[in-house]
Amino acid sequence: MKILGISPLDKDASASLVEDGRVLFAAGEERFNRVKQTSGFPALAIEAALNATGTNPDQIDLVAYPFLDWQKECELIRDAIDAESRWEDRFRPENLELLLHEARSRVPARTSSVHGLSDPNQTMQKGGLKELVYRIAGASDAASRALAREAARDWATRAAADHQRWAEELERGLAKLGLANKLKRAEHHLSHAANAWLASGFERALVVTLDGYGSGLAGSVSLAENGKLRRLSNLRFPHSLGSFYECVTSSLGFSPDRHAGKIVGLAAYGDPRVLAEALLSRVEFGDEGDFRLYQNLNVHFSRHLASHFPMIDVAAAYQYVLELVAARLVRHWVRKTGCANVVLSGGVTANVKMNQRIHEVEEVEQTFVYPNMGDGGCGTGLALLWSAKERKLESYTNAYYGPEFTPAQIEAELKRADLRYERPADLVREVATRVHSGEVIGRFSGRMEYGPRALGNRTILYHAREPEVNQWLNQRLGRTEFMPFAPVTLWEAREKCYLNLAGAEHTAEFMTITFDCTEFMRTNCPAAVHVDGTARPQLIRREVNPEYHAILSEYEKLSGIPCLINTSFNMHEEPIVCTPRDAVRAFLLGHLDGLAIGPFFVRHPERGRS
Ligand SMILES: [Fe+2]
Repeated sequence: MKILGISPLDKDASASLVEDGRVLFAAGEERFNRVKQTSGFPALAIEAALNATGTNPDQIDLVAYPFLDWQKECELIRDAIDAESRWEDRFRPENLELLLHEARSRVPARTSSVHGLSDPNQTMQKGGLKELVYRIAGASDAASRALAREAARDWATRAAADHQRWAEELERGLAKLGLANKLKRAEHHLSHAANAWLASGFERALVVTLDGYGSGLAGSVSLAENGKLRRLSNLRFPHSLGSFYECVTSSLGFSPDRHAGKIVGLAAYGDPRVLAEALLSRVEFGDEGDFRLYQNLNVHFSRHLASHFPMIDVAAAYQYVLELVAARLVRHWVRKTGCANVVLSGGVTANVKMNQRIHEVEEVEQTFVYPNMGDGGCGTGLALLWSAKERKLESYTNAYYGPEFTPAQIEAELKRADLRYERPADLVREVATRVHSGEVIGRFSGRMEYGPRALGNRTILYHAREPEVNQWLNQRLGRTEFMPFAPVTLWEAREKCYLNLAGAEHTAEFMTITFDCTEFMRTNCPAAVHVDGTARPQLIRREVNPEYHAILSEYEKLSGIPCLINTSFNMHEEPIVCTPRDAVRAFLLGHLDGLAIGPFFVRHPERGRS
């Protein structure tokens, strides 16, 4: 059975073609139209999927879409907001003014600088009027309650209109392909749960989904066993860890949709104890690992904190509470079900540090995080779930599901760009030697990665021996990051580099979790180790990507170090490159020293050494 999976049209719209439980092709629309996390019908991604697999639309048996019909979604949104109002009327938070007064006395005096901040204790101070608004709307009890309610109603109105618009776009797009009558919809969190479980390889698994919003929920817990998913618990919107983190991301001056990772990076510099108590005073814990978050959609509260407290302490407190709440949920259900294999999906599980905390829960034995954990991966989940008569529980071996290009296509592009290139007899050695000598090399090879991470085929490589690279390379690529570059590490050397890997080795192949680093790693790869001593590696096995593995092996022979920095091949705020043309453009704009593209090697016309 052949299924076209389409992810929600709200952002990061993606298409995947799945046959009998096997992914044939999957990619996000952003890679083709070059607009990051693009919304709308993924026409170009579908076209690429059909072309790459030689499929005619009439050969598709079903189209899977991970939202219910828009009227039902609107009803669920309204119900969720109404239930929230009733709970908020009952909940009595502690005296916030007193808590914040005490918090002020815990702000440490700091001297060490934080890259990207003018002062380590920098706040988001906005001046008189705005701060007054934040205090009244975010922290004064009566006013904030009324405004939070209004914000929730506004959110519901916008969300309802969005769902209607997406539904219409979806139907129009499918009609053009003659597929309108093949559409099958499902509840959103089923799609997250399905992709995580079916890619994990675990027969019996506790499946936890956490995101911003989907079909009235912000998360779910299911038990996968005997080939079926059984829902154990629903986490109701708006008690959403996704919205919780979006508020702080926006309040610290970043895009809530795209920059949550920056807050994870910033948090490592701060002291969570400064504001943890104030945040926890607004959380109500239930008996089933569940939780409720007071005024969770009221962004003025986090703005109020951000305007008075160091950004790093605000970030640290939100990260701490997120980890605590999520780990508590997982611990409860692992104990209750006796199932110690935890699989995670949903946008919140892009938080690599939270995933580490979950893996460190004493009762958890194995952890797997779906590589395309956000909504971009939802269509694949349903397609996997519905396309196989018998559940296939093979674990994902890789995420190389996108398009690839022949040497002839690549060569034509190099000629078009008038670049001098060669076809080295030993490209692996050429790349390893140049990286060892301190060059920045782009690598474009094979099928493009599916999901947010570059995993070697659309990647920039550099050695990890000097921490300063995080400043100058980010600057050259037009990025601001607080988390260091991530390392790719030879599978064979994993124990030499990371601690507490047991049970999370598979998910570490996809850069979805951090680990504490060994002394070897801290000494030899300081560029990839964060201030808290963690790194988020990609472990690479020879059979997954032989040439990529060989480059790393060759580099290890030269340097004694089994790790390189692997950062995504893209320029500032652009999606990761997809085609040879994108690669050449990013290579030239980013002033990389060299580009290994297919079987060819190109030196930058202005920078390349001989
Ligand atoms: Fe979602």
